[in-house]
Amino acid sequence: MPADLVEGSDAEDVAAYVAQCAAADPNDAREKLECPGVVAGTGGEGLYTSLGCLGCHSIDGSASSGPTLKGVFNSMETLANGQTVKADEQYLLESILDPDKQIVKGYQPGVMTSAVPKGSIPQDQAQELVDYIKTLR
Ligand code: HEC
Repeated sequence: MPADLVEGSDAEDVAAYVAQCAAADPNDAREKLECPGVVAGTGGEGLYTSLGCLGCHSIDGSASSGPTLKGVFNSMETLANGQTVKADEQYLLESILDPDKQIVKGYQPGVMTSAVPKGSIPQDQAQELVDYIKTLR
């Protein structure tokens, strides 16, 4: 959605956007363009956009405020405490449910939790997100 929509405190605009996009037809190319978060797909992919993950985690390998999640599944991660862990399903789930528990080397705690506090994502949604992240090869 337009970047200024949430910052501009015009609640009517937001309501109009939600109404418009709730009715958007995923098969209509123009509506899909205007409502990416809403009709980008259901399940993990839709959540990834609507929960703002994409704002900090690219899916194409490019750098952002958070590490890219392209190819992360089952990769070896070095953590800020020097440990090396495998980014398996359990690790990815914990990274979403309790983001500050393990910090990737080169990043700061508190960044992800400023947008996604511990426990803010229900377990079933976290699982859908992990299922989606696994497809990012
Ligand atoms: C405000 C920016 C921000 C947002 C929004 C955000 N993250 Fe993060 N995320 C980070 C940062 C920074 C790290 C690295 C520090 C750490 O390990 O917590 C991270 C780490 C992760 C990791 C571990 C990555 C790795 O390489 O080990 C996963 C998985 C993850 N985030 C998933 C998500 C998902 C899913 C969402 C959406 C629900 C999300 N993040 C939203 C900033 C963000």
